[in-house]
Amino acid sequence: MPLQRPKGTQDHLPDGSPKLSRDIQASAFAHVQDVARRVLERSGASFIATPLFEEAELVKRGVGGSTDIVRKEMFTVYYFGDHGGYVLRPEGTASIVRAYLQNGLKQLPAPLKLWTHGPMFRAENVQKLRLRQFHQVDYEVLGSTDPLVDAEAIWLMWEVVRELGLTGVRVKLGSIGDPEDRERYNAYLRGLFGAHADRLSDDSKDRLERNPMRILDSKSAGDQALLAELGVKPMLDFLGEDARAHFGAVQAYLREWGVPFDLDPSIVRGLDYYRRTAWELHHEGIGAKSALGGGGRYDGLAEQLGGAAVPGIGWAFGIERVLGALEAEGVAFAQVDGPLLYLAAMDEANVGLAARLALAGRSHGRVEFAYRAMKPGSVFREADRRRARHAAVIGSDEAARGVLNIKNLGTGETREVPVADLNAFLDDLSQQARGTREQA
Ligand code: HAM
Repeated sequence: MPLQRPKGTQDHLPDGSPKLSRDIQASAFAHVQDVARRVLERSGASFIATPLFEEAELVKRGVGGSTDIVRKEMFTVYYFGDHGGYVLRPEGTASIVRAYLQNGLKQLPAPLKLWTHGPMFRAENVQKLRLRQFHQVDYEVLGSTDPLVDAEAIWLMWEVVRELGLTGVRVKLGSIGDPEDRERYNAYLRGLFGAHADRLSDDSKDRLERNPMRILDSKSAGDQALLAELGVKPMLDFLGEDARAHFGAVQAYLREWGVPFDLDPSIVRGLDYYRRTAWELHHEGIGAKSALGGGGRYDGLAEQLGGAAVPGIGWAFGIERVLGALEAEGVAFAQVDGPLLYLAAMDEANVGLAARLALAGRSHGRVEFAYRAMKPGSVFREADRRRARHAAVIGSDEAARGVLNIKNLGTGETREVPVADLNAFLDDLSQQARGTREQA
C-alpha cells in the first residue's frame, strides 16, 4: 500500500474523483470561501492572513491554560535547536488580535472588520467532522463594545450560511458576563462542586482549581451526571447589570432583524477569552454535539496578549461541517465548469496548431487541447470525459483552409468557424455560460 495521509486530515479532491463527498470537494471549499468573501466584504470586512504557526505562548495566553485545546490538543513544532516550541494554530482569533497589535492596525477606521479562512490544527480524538486539520472561515471586529456590533456579527454569520443555501440552522445565544460576574459564578461553582470533588473526573478536579466553569463543558459522562444531579444554576443568572443590559440590546436587534435564536443560559464555549455575548450555530443534520460555528465577545484578549485594551468580537465556522450540513440537506451545487472547447489534431503535423489556437483562446475562456494526434472518435470521447461543451478536430483540410469545424457536444450540431473568428466565438460562449450560471 502506498503511504497514507495522517489520521484526522483530508485531501480536497477535484470534481469527478471517485468516492467524492461534499466535505472533501475542492470546488465546494472554494464555493464556501467565495460566498463568505462576498457577504463579508460587502459588509466592509477586509481580508487578513496570519502564519500557520505561532509562539506557543500566544495560544496559551490567548485560548487559555484551562482549555482542552491548550492542555491536550496542541501540535507543537520542534526544529533543531531548543527553541521552546511553536504551535500550529488551533484557531484564528488570538493570531488576528496579535497581528492587530503588532502592526498598528488601530490606525485604521474603527470598528475594524477583518476576515480570513484557512487551516486550523487540533490534536483531537478523530470522529466524523472532528478533524485534526480542519478549515475555518473567521470574522473579527476590533475596536467597539457596542451591542449593535455583536448583533451585526451574528447576523453576518447567519447571512453567510443562508446565502450558501442552508435552512436547518439555529443560533444558540447566551452571555458569559463580565470578569466580575464570572468570578461570582466560579465562586458559586467551587462551593457547589467542592463538596463532591471526589466524584469529579481527574480533569475536572484540576478545572475546579483553575476555572470551574470549564467543568460544565466536560466530556466525561460521570461529570455530566453529577451536573444534572446538582441542578447547577446557569451563568445567565449571575450577569451584572451592565452585561445584562448589553445582552438585552443584542437580542432586541436580532429580533428586529428576524434572526431566529434560542436562548442558551448555560453556554460555555471551549475557549477562555470570551466575555459577554457568546453563541453557537447548530444544524440538525450533523448531530447535536457538532456546532457548525461559534463566536463571542473577547474584550480582554488584547491586554491578555500584552497590548493596550481593544474590545473585540467575532466568530468562526468549520468549512467541513458546513459542507457536511449542505450534503445532509441535499443542497445542489454547481460543479466547476468543463472547458468551453476541446481542440485536437488528426495528425502530428497539426498538434502544434491546436496548441497555439488553444493558448491564444484562453484569455477568452477555458480551452484545452490534446497533446498527441487523435482519431475523431477518440477526440469526442475524451472531450466528453472532460465535460467539454464543444470539440473540434483539426485535419489537414481545416488547417489548409484556416477554419475549425466546431461540434456542440450538447446538441450535436457542427459549425464552421474561421480561425480568425475563434476568439469572438469563445467570448460568446463565455457570456452564455455566465448567463446560465447566474440563472441557476
Ligand atoms: P471554536 O468553537 O473552537 O471557536 O471553533 C469554531 C468552529 O470550528 C466550530 O464550531 C467547528 O465548526 C469548527 N471546528 C472546531 N474544531 C474542529 C475540528 N476538530 N474538526 C472540524 N471542525 C472543527 C473558535 O475557533 C473561535 N476562534 C471562534 C471565534 C472567532 N470567536 C471569536 N472570534
